Amino acid sequence: MAGPARFDVAVVGAGAAGMMAAATAGQRGRSVVLIDHYKELGEKIRISGGGRCNFTNLHATHRDFLSRNPDFCRSAFARFTPRDFIALVEKHGIAYHEKTLGQLFCDDSAKQVIELLKKECDDGSVTWMRPCGVTDVVKTDEGFEIGTEEGAVHVASLIVASGGLTVPKIGATPFAYKLAEQFGLAVVPPKPALVPLAMDEPWLKIYGELSGLSLDVEITCGGRKFREALLITHRGLSGPAVLQASSYWQMEESRDPLHVNLLPGTDARAFLATHRQSPLNLATLVAHRWPARFAQAWCTEHDATLPITQLPERKVQELATLLGDWKLQPSGTLGYNKAEVTLGGVDTKGLSSKTMEARTVPGLFFIGEAVDVTGHLGGFNFQWAWASGHAAGEAA
Ligand code: FDA
Repeated sequence: MAGPARFDVAVVGAGAAGMMAAATAGQRGRSVVLIDHYKELGEKIRISGGGRCNFTNLHATHRDFLSRNPDFCRSAFARFTPRDFIALVEKHGIAYHEKTLGQLFCDDSAKQVIELLKKECDDGSVTWMRPCGVTDVVKTDEGFEIGTEEGAVHVASLIVASGGLTVPKIGATPFAYKLAEQFGLAVVPPKPALVPLAMDEPWLKIYGELSGLSLDVEITCGGRKFREALLITHRGLSGPAVLQASSYWQMEESRDPLHVNLLPGTDARAFLATHRQSPLNLATLVAHRWPARFAQAWCTEHDATLPITQLPERKVQELATLLGDWKLQPSGTLGYNKAEVTLGGVDTKGLSSKTMEARTVPGLFFIGEAVDVTGHLGGFNFQWAWASGHAAGEAA
């Protein structure tokens, strides 16, 4: 590294949040060093959104986030909105489109977002130290001394943007949590979120061979409802509705079953009453809504293969209840390797919602996924990375 190892600001973690923070601070005229231990830059951005990066959501509000303090993210979101990031995307000439539900994706490649962030950092004359591991951090009178594989770095402000624990094989570490604890900040226990759910053997015996089939459902979990696709996998459940519900399932200590409405938008009782005299069976009646093999398996499991007209009234009522509220009890999650985000993290109680600075350690900031702010599926997590990165970059 050229020049003295002395900067105004160090950012540890060159992911979405870290690059945004470094660029913002650098463009304010602060001297900034950005340190990351992984060999590739912005790897999680590259693999996001199926390679096209769902970089924000037009409708993002604080209600799309889970946190011990759901109001914490409001201030940062008010000062860096989805429109602000879209303006950057347009400035860099990146073509994009809305896929569904306000979710914005690159037309071409997620690599364009990495390139955007890299250029913004270069415009702020950010010094890159990567790949370069961080060994320790010590408080000094002037700020912090950061021990790295390339020697000590002295800074006035340290922004920690090292993310959560998801996908360890591309560089995730518990660095942020350990550092928070070193400086006396609380950490909400991390858990995998937006994660596929595992089902037990008896369930997999019936449904496991339907792996790859999906259907439109509404899942209720932890008081939230998600109407999107449920995907059956060889280990259990996935698809957007399940991933969304998984975050709430992980929040609840009780681990209650998921409540799945198999006929969303339809009153199952009224539907069956209309077809009460039908010579058709249930699988045939729902053929336009469920994949045929799922309908067969579900109706067999629930003893509903006879024509509706031949079913006793008690059975019809039981089916109506089940169609509106099929209870699925996951046995666990598929863990950090398959999760998109980490729930929990540095407790927001210890941070300023305006700047992300630790209340008790002036000059120390935590941003992005490392913090106990976790978005729904659909571009919300990147919006949090941009907004929290911007807030810290403005203040450090
Ligand atoms: P991020 O994890 O991106 O960056 C942390 C950086 O810190 C990494 O570069 C890492 O190498 C570095 N680091 C870690 N420990 C270190 C240490 N000890 N020393 C030095 N460096 C260290 N979100 C969304 O909004 N839209 C989407 O389309 C998707 N898609 C998606 C797909 C998949 C497969 C995953 C796994 C995740 C998503 N996400 C998403 C979530 C999104 O990627 C995530 O929320 C952000 O990348 C978080 O940004 P951060 O900068 O906080 O952490």
